[in-house]
Amino acid sequence: TDLEVKQIAQHLPWYGPEYSPHDVPNFYDIAGITENPKVFRKVIDIFVNRYKALGDKGPTRIAGFDARGFIFGPPIAAGLQIPFIMIRKVGKLPGVVATSGEYQTEYSTDESSIRIGSVSREDRVVLIDDLIATGGTALAGIRLVEAFGAEITEFAAIVSLPFMDGVKKIHEFDNGKFKDVS
Ligand code: PRP
Ligand code: HPA
Repeated sequence: TDLEVKQIAQHLPWYGPEYSPHDVPNFYDIAGITENPKVFRKVIDIFVNRYKALGDKGPTRIAGFDARGFIFGPPIAAGLQIPFIMIRKVGKLPGVVATSGEYQTEYSTDESSIRIGSVSREDRVVLIDDLIATGGTALAGIRLVEAFGAEITEFAAIVSLPFMDGVKKIHEFDNGKFKDVS
């Protein structure tokens, strides 16, 4: 609900350039959520309830992005009793992996990878990250998961920076297939 969004947003401090790890005007920090167990619990419950409500159409996998998608994805997957899979930056996953190719983010050039076998064409996948800025990371994950023939239930982030046009970038790729929910 709007009230929940407002309450959670109060726990999202940002740091100016002098205290940010990157050269950005404002760096939003999810530690304000994770360090407050009640708020953290609330955020996880919102997502678990949202996906439980989909019933038989609900996700069969939760995929999280390296690194801060690994904070929110696993408790959501555990709450739904479905597997959590990792979309990691290249060079970190064992086994045989598929890679996304390089993409730009707000402050870096990255490349993501996924272990072959962690998702299949029978799966419906929710992709989770802490934050969407330019959408480079989200789009790379969407493409990786779709390359295996899996269906994307949705991409979800706790925080969106709308002025960075990340959601717009996803729509340029999906031709309006995904609906926005906030
Ligand atoms: C941040 C953030 C998202 C991504 C968003 O991760 O956690 O994954 O950037 O930016 P984008 O929408 O412009 O792609 P980062 O790459 O800094 O990795 P980290 O979680 O390992 O710090
Ligand atoms: N905070 C955290 N992660 C980010 C940000 C931010 O402001 N921008 C891009 N990734």
